[in-house]
Amino acid sequence: MFNILVLSENRSNGKLEGEFGLSLLVNFNGYKFLFDTGASDLFIRNAKAFGIDVDIMAENVIISHGHSDHTNGLKYLKNAKRIILHPSAFKMRYSMRQRTYSGFPMSEQSLKNIHNVYKTKDTIEVMPNLWYLGEIPMTVDFEKDGNFATTLDEAGQVIDKTEDDSAVVASTGKGLIILVGCGHRGICNIIEYAKKVTGQEQVYAVLGGFHMRGLGNKAKIDKTIEYFKKNRIRNVYLGHCVTDDVIDYFEENLTSSKIFRLAVGKKFYMEKSIEENLAEKL
Ligand SMILES: [Fe+2]
Ligand SMILES: [Fe+2]
Repeated sequence: MFNILVLSENRSNGKLEGEFGLSLLVNFNGYKFLFDTGASDLFIRNAKAFGIDVDIMAENVIISHGHSDHTNGLKYLKNAKRIILHPSAFKMRYSMRQRTYSGFPMSEQSLKNIHNVYKTKDTIEVMPNLWYLGEIPMTVDFEKDGNFATTLDEAGQVIDKTEDDSAVVASTGKGLIILVGCGHRGICNIIEYAKKVTGQEQVYAVLGGFHMRGLGNKAKIDKTIEYFKKNRIRNVYLGHCVTDDVIDYFEENLTSSKIFRLAVGKKFYMEKSIEENLAEKL
């Protein structure tokens, strides 16, 4: 079983509020975890609309990377049993474009005072057939430069290589299911690493933000689409930092894949359990 409920996302479903952020509640074979916590307490409020208390429901929280649109919600969590993230997630970051703080919402110590924190650059098998990938190597030619913003440190303006930008991969009977946050390290780099870690080639689904805002760099988007075709990726769920014109472009040009749009409140049943399949037939 691999089910997802979208709690925070840029697109609203009309009834529930959206925000520039990402948070997913995932159920993998009965093991429930949060993938990111969005930009505010919205993920908690939206979960409540489904009768869900995320503090009770989620066994783990896995953080894709430290940007505030994925981590600000941590301020509102009461008792996460374990929070998994990369050490660089705690970096102080500033958006040069918006001239605001865009990094982790609290110090490492303050997070540790409340929650059990598991900090690692390495890949870890969170449970059988489910991995947090840790630091993503950048191996694909056209993604060597990643999708990096500039930030500020003691030296002044520097490129932020977002070493903490990671992903989650599940190995299922249908193939790999890969969840990404913003895709700063490059969506194809992430997929390549997921295949390497799991030893499985077939990718059933990729979901999240690919960091494609507008069609300005069409050559790179075309190469990404070619990569998806070559790898026969069956399902592509696009949202967060992918704009509508890019999703339209994927729909027109990646006809070998099913394309889905993320929106708050949407549920995706990627792999159904035997019970769920049976219930559907009855
Ligand atoms: Fe980001
Ligand atoms: Fe983001």
